[in-house]
Amino acid sequence: MAISEELIQQIKEENDIVDVISESVRLKKAGRNYTGLCPFHNEKTPSFSVSSDKQIYKCFGCGEAGNVITFVMKNKNLNFVEALEYLANRVNIEFAQTYEDKQNKNKKDLLYKLNVDVAKFFFNNLLNNKKANEYFSGRGITQGTIKKFGLGYSLDNWRGLLTYLKRKGYKEEQILENGLIIKSEKGNYYDRFRNRVMFPVFDYKGKVIGFGGRVLDDSKPKYLNSPDGPLFIKGTHLYGLNFVIKNNSFNRTFIIVEGYMDCIALHQYGITNAVASLGTALTASQAKLLKRYADRVIISYDADLAGQMATLRGLDILRKTGLEVRVLTVPKGKDPDEFIRSNGVDAFNKLIDEALPLIDYRLRKAKEGIDFNQSSMLIKYAKRVTEILAELNPIEKDVYVKKISEDTGIREQAVYDLLGRELTKNFSENRDMNNVEVIGHKLYIEPAYMKAERALLKIMSTIDEYYESIVNNIESSGFI
Ligand code: GTP
Ligand code: MN
Repeated sequence: MAISEELIQQIKEENDIVDVISESVRLKKAGRNYTGLCPFHNEKTPSFSVSSDKQIYKCFGCGEAGNVITFVMKNKNLNFVEALEYLANRVNIEFAQTYEDKQNKNKKDLLYKLNVDVAKFFFNNLLNNKKANEYFSGRGITQGTIKKFGLGYSLDNWRGLLTYLKRKGYKEEQILENGLIIKSEKGNYYDRFRNRVMFPVFDYKGKVIGFGGRVLDDSKPKYLNSPDGPLFIKGTHLYGLNFVIKNNSFNRTFIIVEGYMDCIALHQYGITNAVASLGTALTASQAKLLKRYADRVIISYDADLAGQMATLRGLDILRKTGLEVRVLTVPKGKDPDEFIRSNGVDAFNKLIDEALPLIDYRLRKAKEGIDFNQSSMLIKYAKRVTEILAELNPIEKDVYVKKISEDTGIREQAVYDLLGRELTKNFSENRDMNNVEVIGHKLYIEPAYMKAERALLKIMSTIDEYYESIVNNIESSGFI
């Protein structure tokens, strides 16, 4: 049995080359790339370079070069299939069972082709439907945007699509597999999407993997999406990503919005680095996909409460993936689509410039509902704040502790004391934080408190008077 191209692709996609190589080589960021000492020949100055954009490595010393699979083959002395298996296991892809044979590949190709035909059908319906056209023009969508995003319309008819596709020679099982029709209890098939404006969903390569459809009025459900299937898996794609990366001028900064319409509107107004997460919470898989093309993300979700919760969860996932995160707040509870339409692109660019770094955004949220004149509230606030600051490096901590102290009148030392407690707590909850898997490419960074403890131990063992004062002031249990 041959291993399918798709499986190889998936294994490559999910194993970021920087992460994999960092497990055995100390890499340092140098501009857009990472460099380190070449593992394939002896050297004292780094000539080994890894590109996150291109997902390749090259040594300018010995000439070794390749992708994540060849790296594992050479580095671990494995053959191709063994390297694939190793990488599949590394990211929880079931290797043996997902081996795909030719037949399966042909089936998938057919499902992709089916989706293209469906998208064309919806697109043509839109050309001929006044009501749907008016819907889009009423929302300020231009003809150019309709073409670019392949927008369409599903007929107000139970079997419009089904009839069309059968006439083209497709079988009901195939159409069902892509989630485009539904089987009734009586065993009859009917169209899933009826009387909706349609949004084809592309993967990052621009292949049509599914559809979203919106009602033209206020009826429910507002949006209907393709169900999960062989091509479409919720939470693994980002709407609009294919357009962003096709445009070579993107500068590794992305704007993440919630909805189809937000993403489309931003593109139309020239903000061509917008992607939509579709639904609310971002998943780790989406963050990983993004990381391949982005260093910085600006998240712009609805200002309503659900949107804010989603923002906070999404932020954590993005940060853990190693992205620099900022939060853009659209004033007056509008979404990005409404805002850019009524205020224009300059006003939106201003919001981008004003987007808060993650920590500042969190600190601002922590302040909400706190009355600084009430001491019980102050304590609550201080606790929230220390949780937020616990993960920062010492310099950042200093900056923020000062700020907070000025803001609230809490003594700086008191904030530090609380922070000390928070750190001890975190450490016992997360003993493996210096583990390579967790830290990823930051192999060379160790937590600051470890450095501090080492320094303390060193002075204790070399200077008597310090030994005395440290022993008198710190109990051994105070050490982590
Ligand atoms: P518009 O009203 O068209 O401007 O929608 P929006 O894009 O502003 O949508 P909203 O902020 O309400 O929702 C954001 C995204 O969540 C949408 O683009 C959809 O992907 C998804 N969504 C919204 N409503 C529904 C729903 O009823 N069902 C499902 N499955 N998804 C929804
Ligand atoms: Mn909207």
